[in-house]
Amino acid sequence: MGFITVVFHLLLHTVGLCSGGSTSQYVRKAEPAIDIPLELFPQPSGYNAPEQVHITQGDLVGRGVIISWVTPVERHPNVVTYWEDGKQDEKHKTHSITTSYRYYNYSSGYIHHATIKKLNYDTLYFYELGKQNVTRRFSFTTPPKVGPDVPYTFGIMGDLGQTYASKQTLDHYVSNPKGQAVLMVGDLSYADHYPFHDNRRWDSWGRFIEKSAAYQPWIWTAGNHELDFAPEIEEYTPFKPYMHRYHVPYRASQSTSPLWYSIKRASAYIIVLSSYSAYGKYTPQYKWLKQELPRLTGPRHHG
Ligand SMILES: *[C@@H]1O[C@H](CO)[C@@H](O)[C@H](O)[C@H]1NC(C)=O
Ligand SMILES: *[C@@H]1O[C@H](CO)[C@@H](O)[C@H](O)[C@H]1NC(C)=O
Repeated sequence: MGFITVVFHLLLHTVGLCSGGSTSQYVRKAEPAIDIPLELFPQPSGYNAPEQVHITQGDLVGRGVIISWVTPVERHPNVVTYWEDGKQDEKHKTHSITTSYRYYNYSSGYIHHATIKKLNYDTLYFYELGKQNVTRRFSFTTPPKVGPDVPYTFGIMGDLGQTYASKQTLDHYVSNPKGQAVLMVGDLSYADHYPFHDNRRWDSWGRFIEKSAAYQPWIWTAGNHELDFAPEIEEYTPFKPYMHRYHVPYRASQSTSPLWYSIKRASAYIIVLSSYSAYGKYTPQYKWLKQELPRLTGPRHHG
């Protein structure tokens, strides 16, 4: 289960202060959850093609974006080229921070995270990854400036996994043009359900969500399925795959851990917490939340 505070605060702001409302009556068919075979999540074609592309907010207020992707064979190119719609003569480049990890007998590809900042609000941007004939192009729209009554529509998903039911959920979300960003409230890939936490399932999940997550930010929260704590195979570092793959702008809200942080986006003030990290009195998470809450009720956030 993901932690639900993120949802609570969103509701507080969208329902309490603005006009919320549901966007569809759709209910997914009840079906047994059968995993989609690994082969049905193919890599994009071309040597070292960038894959598993996803974006998230990259600063406190929505003018920054973290663009993340994996190059499976070589570390380079480790750069993203981006430009504002209509200004293809003014292309910018940002280099990524690149990481990789081992988990039991799995070795990840090169995982890239590039933070681009000071974008204009409410503006369409294009970005490109890869080189020559294996270049891939994507786009996103920045949110409007933060304010109490700014309309904005979030989708909320949790416990997604990679079953045929997961695909129905994601396809349904993508088919509705209203959603502008996703609040992922935890339990992403369910790779931990496989023998030895088969981390290839983290890669397949990254490919699975790309059709949405490369084009609009997914706001990340860790659930228990992100722990990947497995002493029986000598994996002792909680959240190892998750933290290598999903970066968040936690420093912007003075947090000391990617597992808890806050962002503002349009009219929402989103607080992400981790119920699988210590939160008792005097813990880092507790102290952070204590200094965070007064900001939430500060004068700037009354509707
Ligand atoms: C890209 O170009 C190289 C030669 O420059 C070629 O060997 C390769 O097959 C091409 N790949 C694709 C996906 O077109
Ligand atoms: C990892 O170990 C499992 C179980 O022994 C095996 O089935 C799998 O092929 C191994 N994978 C690699 C990449 O060595």
